Amino acid sequence: MDDLDPAPDYPALLRLDGRVLVVLGAGAGIGRQCAHALAQAGATVVCVDREPAAAKAVADEVGGHPVTADVTTRAEVARVFREAAAVGPVTGVVDIVGLAVLRPLMDFDDADYDHQFDVVLRHGFLTLQLGGRALADAGGGAMVFIGSVSGHTYAAKETVYGAAKAALHRMVESAGRELAPLGVRVNAVAPGFTRTPGIADAVAGAGWPETAGGNAYSFTILSLP
Ligand SMILES: NC(=O)c1ccc[n+]([C@@H]2O[C@H](COP(=O)([O-])OP(=O)(O)OC[C@H]3O[C@@H](n4cnc5c(N)ncnc54)[C@H](O)[C@@H]3O)[C@@H](O)[C@H]2O)c1
Repeated sequence: MDDLDPAPDYPALLRLDGRVLVVLGAGAGIGRQCAHALAQAGATVVCVDREPAAAKAVADEVGGHPVTADVTTRAEVARVFREAAAVGPVTGVVDIVGLAVLRPLMDFDDADYDHQFDVVLRHGFLTLQLGGRALADAGGGAMVFIGSVSGHTYAAKETVYGAAKAALHRMVESAGRELAPLGVRVNAVAPGFTRTPGIADAVAGAGWPETAGGNAYSFTILSLP
């Protein structure tokens, strides 16, 4: 027991009262849970999804603000941060957008390739640029991106998905160095199998308990200054 150095009030350090945070891909799965977690910590959450009903449903659940947008285009990402700024200065972003196109390499055509890289990587690039600027203008903040263990390892049918996630990881690491001087911290989390609507479809028929071990394989990529 050390009376001169009492333990801090740790839950108080995690509070986000009065802050505005943006969740990209908030409509389902990990994004929806992130929106709930942030709202429970006191944040006002801007819930962004390409599905209007999903964006509204989650915003209603967490008392946040819905925005319908496809964040794979520059114009839409710019609009997201304009609409979020109208709610208040944005000090945090969680970008969970992503989708695995699980298909043998020989069956992948050029349109699949463009789609896979847009839905995993392009929005990350746009969010780092436009969201990074918004956070810097607000005096600083933090961004978290959702990668995947598929970006760290290899697997059949994940040749393009894994490559896109690996590129997202490296983009986040390098952008962290560039944005740190602006007061913006950038990190990524690379989950393993996580039971969500998206993954349930992907592994349908394979048998969940045999296929997935919960969050048995999770990495955190730290990109600190
Ligand atoms: N679930 C897993 O097992 C798992 C494992 C590793 C990594 N991940 C990654 O975690 C992230 C979330 O996965 P999930 O399983 O929760 O996904 P999900 O499919 O359950 O939910 C994704 C949400 O993002 C939205 N979205 C998709 N594309 C969008 C776009 N272009 N613009 C705006 N919104 C868009 C969807 O409408 C949906 O609401 C993804 O990046 C995924 O690659 C998931």
